[in-house]
Amino acid sequence: MRKTLAELLAELERFGKRNDRAAKDVSRCMLNITRETGELFFVLARAVNAKDILEIGTSNGYSTLWWTEAARASEGMVTTVEVSDWKISLAEKNFRRAGLFRYIRQVRGDGGLVLKKRKAASFDVVFLDSFKDSYVGWWPEVKRVLRPGGLLVADNTLTHAGEMAGFMKLVERSREFVSADVPVGNGELVAVKARG
Ligand SMILES: C[S@@+](CC[C@H](N)C(=O)[O-])C[C@H]1O[C@@H](n2cnc3c(N)ncnc32)[C@H](O)[C@@H]1O
Repeated sequence: MRKTLAELLAELERFGKRNDRAAKDVSRCMLNITRETGELFFVLARAVNAKDILEIGTSNGYSTLWWTEAARASEGMVTTVEVSDWKISLAEKNFRRAGLFRYIRQVRGDGGLVLKKRKAASFDVVFLDSFKDSYVGWWPEVKRVLRPGGLLVADNTLTHAGEMAGFMKLVERSREFVSADVPVGNGELVAVKARG
């Protein structure tokens, strides 16, 4: 990995931990994926040669940087959606510092509305990392926007097992997907859509 990006990721890991320990309100927390999770995402995205990645829940862009570094290798783009203006501007600074800004579309708003507006089969990867109570309602759109052979990834299967249970059931019971609950970091749901 490029030295500048490796240094920025390490800095963001320190910042995230310090910030979240001190934060008085969850809306001020970064709630980033772990470093090992980022490494897993990088490999997954490269494995499916991901060119179009959708992330819902940008925060300050730590996970986005991992997805984007992988997408960049195939001249791809990451679309990342966030509701907090404060976090959108923190993320933008990090994307510029990483030299990855031109590979990222930042969208302000609700991930569910963004999903509805996208064409069928328009993403190679969909990564869900926002408030978990929306995922069950988003499921039909998540399935629709993923291309055959595309990957669905969702964070927090270990740390938010209760909140994730309904969604996990839907994915596990779907005939269209094969899935695994990977005990890395906060726990990652990784599912592949059938090739048709
Ligand atoms: C767990 S954090 C994301 C962490 C980030 N993926 C990372 O690992 O660096 C969740 C983020 O989702 C945002 N969020 C919550 N609900 C959302 C929604 N419906 N659409 C888009 N973003 C949302 C929150 O503001 C918060 O910044």
